[in-house]
Amino acid sequence: MRQYAIKGGNPLVGEVEIGGAKNAALGILAASILTDDPVIIENMPDVNDTNVLLEAMQEIGVKVERIDRHTVRICSALVNKLVVEGEFVRKIRASYYLLGALLGKKHHAEVVLPGGCAIGSRPIDQHIKGFKALGASVSIEHGLIITDAETLTGSHIYMDVVSVGATMNVIMAAVLAEGTTIIENAAKEPHVVDLANFLNSMGANIKGAGTDVIRVKGVTRLHGTEYMIIPDQIEAGTFMFAAAITKGDVTVRNVIPKHLESITAKLREIDCEIEETDDAVRVVASKPLKHTQVKTLPYPGFPTDMQPQITATLALTEGTSIVTESIFENRFKYVDELARMGADIKVVDGSAAIITGIPKYTGAALTAPDLRAGAALVLAALAAEGYSTVDDIHFIERGYENFDGKLRGLGGQIELVESERDFRKFQMKIG
Ligand code: EPZ
Repeated sequence: MRQYAIKGGNPLVGEVEIGGAKNAALGILAASILTDDPVIIENMPDVNDTNVLLEAMQEIGVKVERIDRHTVRICSALVNKLVVEGEFVRKIRASYYLLGALLGKKHHAEVVLPGGCAIGSRPIDQHIKGFKALGASVSIEHGLIITDAETLTGSHIYMDVVSVGATMNVIMAAVLAEGTTIIENAAKEPHVVDLANFLNSMGANIKGAGTDVIRVKGVTRLHGTEYMIIPDQIEAGTFMFAAAITKGDVTVRNVIPKHLESITAKLREIDCEIEETDDAVRVVASKPLKHTQVKTLPYPGFPTDMQPQITATLALTEGTSIVTESIFENRFKYVDELARMGADIKVVDGSAAIITGIPKYTGAALTAPDLRAGAALVLAALAAEGYSTVDDIHFIERGYENFDGKLRGLGGQIELVESERDFRKFQMKIG
């Protein structure tokens, strides 16, 4: 048993330092395979998803050296295996980035079909469409996606859905192709831009990242680089909502406020005060929170990865709120857990939550169903009256570094416990 023990009721107050963006790091790590030269990556979050990807890369011959907790040196000159498999890699979604990277560099890759958080059916047809347009064959055999190409040639690709993963994968497959690739209806997320900036710092020629048309002009080789990953927009947003839900006053540091605009806008709507500086945002929740409506959308819209955190918060506002999920089809599973704390939320067709505000949550035994929902349950427990436990925290550890430690730094009463005895000790300590 590993779980968080939490006693709610304390407003979170203070400053918290945000780490590097997990979803940028995953693409960038895979893309580092595209050069034989050493690459140094800074501001790497120390979370399970990046660590599993690094392990998978080592299995195929990539040399990984940890310079410090947040800096890695990667050398891919001796990649000798083009098959990425094993139960542990299947658990992370981002293993599919090794398809694009290995296809781009070695013209062949076999990667186990990806897993990741169970938040919908999560097809990969757009990745496959992109690889095929570049001249690769793609088949699925024995649970592996196999892609192969004699040569890769630039092409015009229209993405039928806006997909972060497919956009990043096709960029990686196209950087060393002959000629120019144009990706239309591309994802505009900050991590797509970060991947393009990283590859450009290695000598790639990518233009338009951050807009919905990306042009990749193939180059013959990429060289080494030293690169710092952008701050994590979702970790920052999670702590901003931690301030709101606990009626606290939290400054998130080391952020790019522009990436947080949709989150900031919603917090203002529910009556939080926001102060922005160049690299920090302060959220003060001193007034009763108001209800609102929100629909998740691709960037710059409100992120689906913040949907559970805003829902958990709106459940404690005055009036009725509606949260509509437009990206994934199964992302409200945590609502049953919030109901155990007293929330009044009805999910309609799996795509919208109608939330009737209640005055307070009461602590309960909770189970994290996935990464972001797990984080949202922790926030709810920090706002609740009395004790809660949150199980299955391995989901949370996929994407948040030292989550409990950072929350304790803000005055949150939370501890990772491994036994009933630990839990009782926590209760005695807190009183
Ligand atoms: C990325 O997933 C993130 N994961 C997710 O973060 C995030 O929720 C998601 O983007 C949306 O922002 C990583 O970066 C590793 P998509 P990804 O392809 O790339 C459909 C977190 O909590 N689609 O942008 O898998 C898909 O079903 C995680 O950190 C297709 O139809 O998401 C979805 O409805 C969870 N065909 C929509 O597009 C495809 O080929 C967006 O998915 C690909 C996607």
